[in-house]
Amino acid sequence: MSEYVLQAEDVAIHYGGVKAVDGVSLTLTKGQIRGLIGPNGAGKSTVIDAITGRRRLTRGRVTLGGIDVSAMGVVERRMHGLSRSFQRTSIFGQMTVRKQVELASHQMGVADSSADANAVLQELELLHMAESLGEDLGYGEQRRLDLALALVGRPSVLLLDEPMAGLSVKESQDLARHLKALTSRWDVSVLLVEHDMDVVFGISDVVTVFELGRVIAGGTPAEVRTDARVREAYLGSAA
Ligand SMILES: Nc1ncnc2c1ncn2[C@@H]1O[C@H](COP(=O)(O)OP(=O)(O)O)[C@@H](O)[C@H]1O
Ligand SMILES: [Mg+2]
Repeated sequence: MSEYVLQAEDVAIHYGGVKAVDGVSLTLTKGQIRGLIGPNGAGKSTVIDAITGRRRLTRGRVTLGGIDVSAMGVVERRMHGLSRSFQRTSIFGQMTVRKQVELASHQMGVADSSADANAVLQELELLHMAESLGEDLGYGEQRRLDLALALVGRPSVLLLDEPMAGLSVKESQDLARHLKALTSRWDVSVLLVEHDMDVVFGISDVVTVFELGRVIAGGTPAEVRTDARVREAYLGSAA
């Protein structure tokens, strides 16, 4: 069995002549947080779509716990433990928080969906608003509900595309704290695409830097911060 929970090897997604992602390899070990940064258009969202199965690979392969999932669709990969958040698109305004998490768990085929939902709500500190309607939640709470929906069925891998966008500093810190706790308490591995550098460098174990669909640097936050090419391409001399 592979030591990697997730492994993307030589992944490429081309749109006609546009090489959105071109030969990217990256891994996640159990409970690891990998930050993924790079300028707009670097291919960060596309690589998430490639890993989840939303986009068909032009080249390469994706394995989950050593199993090749490259030929599987989005739902089948989710059943194998690969989850992502969708930034509120999956939230129902007219249903209670508890009901929609239970429903998501039931759809995942979890035997005791009410216990599963309760555990997720407790982990994300959402129990006190479990009986509130989706539409009555604040923006930061909706983001946490979105994360809760991604966590039913206890996925092994969570892919997040700019989860902090639009959140206040306090809300971002809360979300970062929850992510960090999840990796240690539930052994979830996280691929985190995020613009907020304080968050990325603060909670990631390793960081990968993209430019023009390729990996230009990687390593610990400290290594990446001081990488000359990264500073030039992305962070600017002020970083
Ligand atoms: N459906 C598509 N058709 C054609 N080009 C696309 C499509 N989606 C993304 N691209 C292009 O792929 C590149 C990477 O985009 P994206 O993954 O969204 O970057 P990022 O998330 O890093 O900002 C960009 O040049 C973008 O214009
Ligand atoms: Mg993007």
